[in-house]
Amino acid sequence: MPDLSINFAGIKSPNPFWLASAPPTNSGYQVMKAFDAGWGGAVWKTLGIPVINVSSRYGAINYRDTRIAGFNNIELITDRPLADNLKEIEEVKKYFPDHAVIASLMVETREQWIQIIKDVENAGADGIELNFGCPHGMCERGMGSAVGQEPSVLKTIVEWVMDAANIPVITKLTPNISDITDPGLAAVQGGTDAISLINTIKSIVGIDLDSYAPYPVVDGKGTNGGYCGPAVKPIAMHMLRELAQHQKIKDTPISGIGGIENWRDVVEFILLGASSVQVCTAAMHYGFGIVREMETGLIKFMNDKGYDTIYDFVGKALPNVTEWKHLNLKHKVVAEINADKCIGCQLCYIACDDGAHQAIRITEGTRVPEIIDENCVGCNLCSLVCPVEECITMDKRDDGKQHVTWAERTDAGTIPTTFNDDLAGGKGHFVPSVKDALKHRKS
Ligand SMILES: Cc1cc2nc3c(=O)[nH]c(=O)nc-3n(C[C@H](O)[C@H](O)[C@H](O)COP(=O)(O)O)c2cc1C
Ligand code: SF4
Ligand code: SF4
Repeated sequence: MPDLSINFAGIKSPNPFWLASAPPTNSGYQVMKAFDAGWGGAVWKTLGIPVINVSSRYGAINYRDTRIAGFNNIELITDRPLADNLKEIEEVKKYFPDHAVIASLMVETREQWIQIIKDVENAGADGIELNFGCPHGMCERGMGSAVGQEPSVLKTIVEWVMDAANIPVITKLTPNISDITDPGLAAVQGGTDAISLINTIKSIVGIDLDSYAPYPVVDGKGTNGGYCGPAVKPIAMHMLRELAQHQKIKDTPISGIGGIENWRDVVEFILLGASSVQVCTAAMHYGFGIVREMETGLIKFMNDKGYDTIYDFVGKALPNVTEWKHLNLKHKVVAEINADKCIGCQLCYIACDDGAHQAIRITEGTRVPEIIDENCVGCNLCSLVCPVEECITMDKRDDGKQHVTWAERTDAGTIPTTFNDDLAGGKGHFVPSVKDALKHRKS
């Protein structure tokens, strides 16, 4: 049985599954219930200054049959009294001394930071997470993402916190910035023990066609919310990768957040450099029980691959994440259709003919399309639209012996310099004649 336990920048946890700071960690009741269900840690709903929340608060993107493919909220930090939260943190730690309870904090002045750090330390929190991410409401008051978007301010506050704190500090970053390594580096320079990301992405999920206000509608008006859930996972993973590959950030532990809802998501975040993961939307959607699937899936993956601990595969995908200029230009794949599996829907034909490279043919009298090998550029589109699993596969056609990259060609002085250059890639590609577009027209 592999060991799932982690020591994240000094915060010990029986497994890497943590609840993110959000409604599921709003009370001791919820955190205890989650630990009982199998979660190893919880970042408490952000504590800070007194706030008032509005009603309604959430919106969602329901994509076709999928409820909450993306989730959006305009909620602020906790609206419960600080004393109640502190008492409950203390209580939870008594029942679960070996689980990780991390207090998320957001205040304004240095004095407020010093005081609230003392409060949560006295309550027995195992760590602190600095919320520099909230992209609505709190940022209008100079906190949350307003700090996360200003690396120099972020660094100063991290320095204040590091001066005052006796327990590990995680700096949580906002994705609402063009280069995530700027605040990441500022956090490291400020002395943070760890980083977590992402918080939510500024967004409008839709407009109500009666009130003409954005969702969630509050008495006829709306505002931008913070976007999260499955839709944001690719953005979160890219930002994680950028930090985990950065020379001056890569040695700082990172807690990965954004769209995680099953064991595979967890493994992918770990492979990109996260050594703990946090979950919000999936726990709100499906409840705490999802951790059971995460745990069994993670254990099976580790057994299959022969890993004893999480650290055996943290960041294992990073050497394969490179810049475009280092990709092998000689690699060649071509689509292949398995006629036995094909249901003849012709979605691949439509996609390739209208949206790609006219490399699929349908012969009259048959519904199974055919790939025209010499026209296929190996873009993958047909295999992505095909509704039948493994019906279209991409077949490797190069012999694996040649390896030339754009960077190598640049160094060798063999990159194309004009559109007519024989060295340019697309010059010999097949395209039908313009008039072929109208060949099915009646008159
Ligand atoms: C309703 C709601 C409230 C949230 N409140 C907080 C908060 O108080 N503090 C915080 O740091 N992040 C907060 N978040 C952001 C989450 O912790 C997390 O970073 C984000 O939702 C991405 O993870 P997910 O895709 O698993 O939801 C909140 C998210 C939601 C949906
Ligand atoms: S999309 Fe897939 S199932 Fe449909 S015709 Fe093409 S190969 Fe067959
Ligand atoms: S891989 Fe792209 S170019 Fe080739 S057949 Fe499929 S859609 Fe067409």
